[in-house]
Amino acid sequence: MKVTAAVLAALGATLFAGQLYAKTAESPIPRLVKQDGRYALLVDGAPFLMLGAQSNNSSDWPATLPKVWPAIEYLHANTLETPIYWEQFEPKQGQFDYSAVDTVLTQAREHHVHLVLLWFGTWKNGSQHYMPEWMKLDPQRYSHVTNKGGELVDSPSPFAAASLEADKRAFTAFMQHLKDADPERTVLMVQVENETGTYGSVRDYCPEANKLFDGPVPPEILKAMGKTPATPGANWEMVFGPEAEVYFHAWAIAKYVGEVAAAGKAAYPLPLYVNAALHDPLTPEVPVTYESGGPTDNVIPIWKAEAPAIDVLAPDIYLSGTEQYLKTLDLYHRPDNALFVPETSGAVHEARFLFSALGLQAIGYSPFGLDYTRNRPTLPGEPDAKNTFLDPTAQNYGLIAPMMRDVAKLNFEGKLQATAELDDASTQTLHFGYWDAVVTYGGGRRLMANANQNREPLGRALVAQLGGNQFLVTGFNCSVDFRPAGAEQQRKSGNIVVGTGQTPSALIDGKWQHRQFLRVEEGAYENGAFKFQRILNGDQTDWGLNFSSEPEVIRVSVATY
Ligand code: DGJ
Repeated sequence: MKVTAAVLAALGATLFAGQLYAKTAESPIPRLVKQDGRYALLVDGAPFLMLGAQSNNSSDWPATLPKVWPAIEYLHANTLETPIYWEQFEPKQGQFDYSAVDTVLTQAREHHVHLVLLWFGTWKNGSQHYMPEWMKLDPQRYSHVTNKGGELVDSPSPFAAASLEADKRAFTAFMQHLKDADPERTVLMVQVENETGTYGSVRDYCPEANKLFDGPVPPEILKAMGKTPATPGANWEMVFGPEAEVYFHAWAIAKYVGEVAAAGKAAYPLPLYVNAALHDPLTPEVPVTYESGGPTDNVIPIWKAEAPAIDVLAPDIYLSGTEQYLKTLDLYHRPDNALFVPETSGAVHEARFLFSALGLQAIGYSPFGLDYTRNRPTLPGEPDAKNTFLDPTAQNYGLIAPMMRDVAKLNFEGKLQATAELDDASTQTLHFGYWDAVVTYGGGRRLMANANQNREPLGRALVAQLGGNQFLVTGFNCSVDFRPAGAEQQRKSGNIVVGTGQTPSALIDGKWQHRQFLRVEEGAYENGAFKFQRILNGDQTDWGLNFSSEPEVIRVSVATY
């Protein structure tokens, strides 16, 4: 759909903590839209950035929710991701218990927070631990994966027709209930299953699976993977060689999850996504040791072809290493897939990757395990409260939450760029037509030879072009300056003048162009709008626009002379 200014203006919502929060009786259903190659999640008719936090796995109970909300508030998160447990939802076959859904809906509204609900159904981290007891006690019918040696594995079989039917029924009941119980659209998205796939066996070796594996590869998979077999009717091994088994398992699981998703979506068309337990994107593994069959980057086309009711394939990023992290973001930011990070570590040295994700138009970001249910028994305000594990995310969200709507809108319009410090603290250049924004890390004087560096890579920057010569700039532990475009190359070739006491300049069409700041406004976002506080000049701008670990937002106009 085309998002016009009229659509964006027609919000009909009230403001809460700088974020639009609909209080109308029936709001539009959240939806994912694409325009000019960019995605946005529309909430109340306008682009929305999910600043999320995922609770611990066993937190969505009336007894534990009181230990969740204070953390969400401390974080300035606008969305809680929390599970719905199949075992709780359908304790007896065909009898659905909506109490947990209703409780979390009511409490989320009381706390002015949106929800992403995680359907812990057939798969949870590759296992079937959240199936109701009546299913666990009938393993013949609700069968497990069989490994190559004929042993049963702790993973549900994607060929278990009874499990598929049961999951479809339960998921549909859940989605139907959401439709009826949530006209306010507290719930933004639903995750179907959790980290699907299998550890310990690359695929299912049950008789039905073996027969299909020896049969022809379905035409939609050939198309998705760009294969035209020499022999018509070629089987999986002939077409895909060493990767045949993992592709086959991905096909089987995507088909199953695709059916569950389609059934639920027919009841209530909320955006749906699946999350992936990753493999190292830099070193593809054959044979497979990672969780096989889930939406890992190597099988994205298979999932897209086989599960079209799923809107987004989303990476759970727990990889250590800047290169791995950034590569993963890149692999899931595709023309056919909006970037969404539903789980990540939230550790101090990884908080900067929120900005990397924003630089790829992420629709949401959500570190995992951010509540007070485990090992952290105290609440904020109590004398011995320990929020160290929350602080990196709280720092990010404290800055971005008040400006969330502007960030989402500017990103959807292609006017925003964001970036994070690399391990070598190298300077980064963001291109905005005539202007380059140059981001340096450390003391804000990195153009000088003896510049300070950050103690570890923590820096992050966000720049958005508000008009030809006007920019919104923010970040942490970095310095941002502007130069006429092309200056970077010219500096490298010796043509550019930069450094102590000199303005960034460029030789353009034989004439020197020097950057000058017309007006540098420091402000803060209140009720979703930038509020001017003071003009920065002198020591505060002579070395570029410097950002510390405090939340600071600058609106700057530049010109040349
Ligand atoms: C990824 C899973 O999706 C989460 O539910 C959780 O189990 C974390 N791993 C590990 O803490």
